[in-house]
Amino acid sequence: MPLGFSMKEMKDNKRILVLPGDGIGPEVCKEATTILELVNEIHSLNLSFSEALVGGSAYEATGEPLPQDTLKAARESDAILLGAVGGPKWDELDYQYRPERALLGLRSELDLFANFRPAILSKYLTSSSSLKANNVENLDLLIIRELTGGIYFGEPRGRTEGKKEAFNTMIYNQDEIERIGRVAFEAAQKRNKNLCSVDKANVLEVSVLWREVITELSKEYPDVILSHMLVDNAAMQLVREPKQFDVIVTGNLFGDILSDIAAMMTGSIGMLPSASLNSENKGMYEPVHGSAPDIAGKGIANPIAAILSFAMALKYSLNLDKEADNLEKAVQEVLDEGFRTKDILSKGTKEVSTIEMGAAIISKLK
Ligand code: IPM
Ligand code: MG
Repeated sequence: MPLGFSMKEMKDNKRILVLPGDGIGPEVCKEATTILELVNEIHSLNLSFSEALVGGSAYEATGEPLPQDTLKAARESDAILLGAVGGPKWDELDYQYRPERALLGLRSELDLFANFRPAILSKYLTSSSSLKANNVENLDLLIIRELTGGIYFGEPRGRTEGKKEAFNTMIYNQDEIERIGRVAFEAAQKRNKNLCSVDKANVLEVSVLWREVITELSKEYPDVILSHMLVDNAAMQLVREPKQFDVIVTGNLFGDILSDIAAMMTGSIGMLPSASLNSENKGMYEPVHGSAPDIAGKGIANPIAAILSFAMALKYSLNLDKEADNLEKAVQEVLDEGFRTKDILSKGTKEVSTIEMGAAIISKLK
């Protein structure tokens, strides 16, 4: 320990790792990082920052989408802010070199099993939703997706030698279901106390077990109303009447699909943050949008999802609720004043660039 540092100061010095990645990732992370440094300064939070390579840009520089140095820095940090990974340039690469491998590697290496994907419709974007306004007005639902198990990681997996055949395994054990179940019940307790567990129990044994474990667990949370829904029905209900949901909990693959449906209802995925946490609340925070290579480098990407991802980091990993609320309020004020990036532009609003949007939010924070 360096001389002159007390134990408390060492402990308070939380580390944030920024992984800008590919496409619009660096542009939106730049704005989020500037804001992060400002919030750090204004509130004397004593956060420290570093940056590392991930995804396609890491592959270009090192031959690997998730270099050892990056993984090491990720393990040593309290929160990770990730921009986005991927792009057409790397689509033809072998599976193990693809940028997406970095995401899956970080999730499993850091045991980030609990993925929070809120779908909140900003009041300004009601007309941008793909659904009718009255179905989505004030929509605020939370999908909690299991992120380190299920068919994404199940073994055996692979291709059969000698013939054109391939296989994956959907597998969950009681502990994995219970730990994501607890996260979901606790999240529901803090919201409207409604939890819908989504599975495919009419066909899959793994879903029958999922339903059994969640039902058993519900006895510990008598204040939460639990329901079960089959995934095909859940997909239909989400586009029919999304406001019937409060919190949805589901496995890795179903959560991947349902969270994209939910995101689409909010008008622009340029606004949605997400969090992936382990059991110590260490987390990786990323915009729900991808690397959007078609608009990369043009300065028009919406930095709000990245900025709100940082707000989530403040809340979930750094226990700085007040600071997170402040930041969310600043974003809201800027939207109130009519500032819009291209993706959320509508009649009577002011179009701004990525940098201008960041600057407008900064001016509210100051
Ligand atoms: C997501 C993405 C990833 C996933 C891909 C890029 C591996 O679709 O975070 O939803 O399937 O989990
Ligand atoms: Mg997905």
